[in-house]
Amino acid sequence: MTSLLSTRNLCLRFGGVIAADKIDFDLHRGERLAVIGQNGAGKTTFINICTGFLKPDQGQVMFNGQDVTGREPRHLVRMGLGRSFQLPQLFLDHTVRQCLEIAAAARTGHMSWLTALTDAVDAREVDDTLALVGLHERSHLPAMALPEGQRKLLDVAMALMLKPQLMIMDEPTSGVGSDSKMQLMDTVMQAMAERQVTSWFVEHDIDIVKRYATRVAAWIGGRIAADGEPDDVLQQPQVKLEILGTR
Ligand SMILES: Nc1ncnc2c1ncn2[C@@H]1O[C@H](COP(=O)(O)OP(=O)(O)OP(=O)(O)O)[C@@H](O)[C@H]1O
Ligand SMILES: [Mg+2]
Repeated sequence: MTSLLSTRNLCLRFGGVIAADKIDFDLHRGERLAVIGQNGAGKTTFINICTGFLKPDQGQVMFNGQDVTGREPRHLVRMGLGRSFQLPQLFLDHTVRQCLEIAAAARTGHMSWLTALTDAVDAREVDDTLALVGLHERSHLPAMALPEGQRKLLDVAMALMLKPQLMIMDEPTSGVGSDSKMQLMDTVMQAMAERQVTSWFVEHDIDIVKRYATRVAAWIGGRIAADGEPDDVLQQPQVKLEILGTR
């Protein structure tokens, strides 16, 4: 099976901290990968390197068979590598609909002061994506009026406007009440399935990991300490001791 995204010997230090320690990793099309690990384990750093927000000290990132090491995020987005953020990156003063229009215009390159935004994007595509994440009835509200869970959905919807093949979601349920998390993930993962997007999400809630992941990678100290079937990884002694806090 060819990899959609892979890394080889990926390394990054911040002063004395080794945030990525010789990481070899392969993600295949159709997988639903959950990344687990304690705070500071290097989960976001790895995402930032793979999505072009940080340059590695050493090593390689390949996406869809091309070496993309050190490429700018906007190039990677156009190649089909989408992401959502630990803290949603929204245009808070704009409406929900405008946030999606801006995202779509960024993809097509139709960002110009001479063109009205609404002329540059396909309205049906915006409607479909809003409906997909259940925000269609909120489309005229300013993004800042949304509660945290819906902000997370809007962040995901904006990334979907860029037509990703792979979506990397950094803690899509953080900041959301535990009673709403499952519903949020149901919506997100259904959207990924419908658009046939391979997904990778960072998650601290193990019930969510068990419910949605086909594969789990456990990060400890800038390395992948365990990687494989969820049941196998979650049973490993080091994972239980250092991540789950159980024996
Ligand atoms: N820009 C930076 N400058 C200096 N150190 C950094 C920077 N970004 C991350 N680090 C350090 O690198 C290590 C890995 O951080 P990272 O944010 O990747 O962890 P994480 O696994 O995403 O944690 P969390 O679960 O809290 O989000 C930590 O020790 C962190 O303090
Ligand atoms: Mg993080």
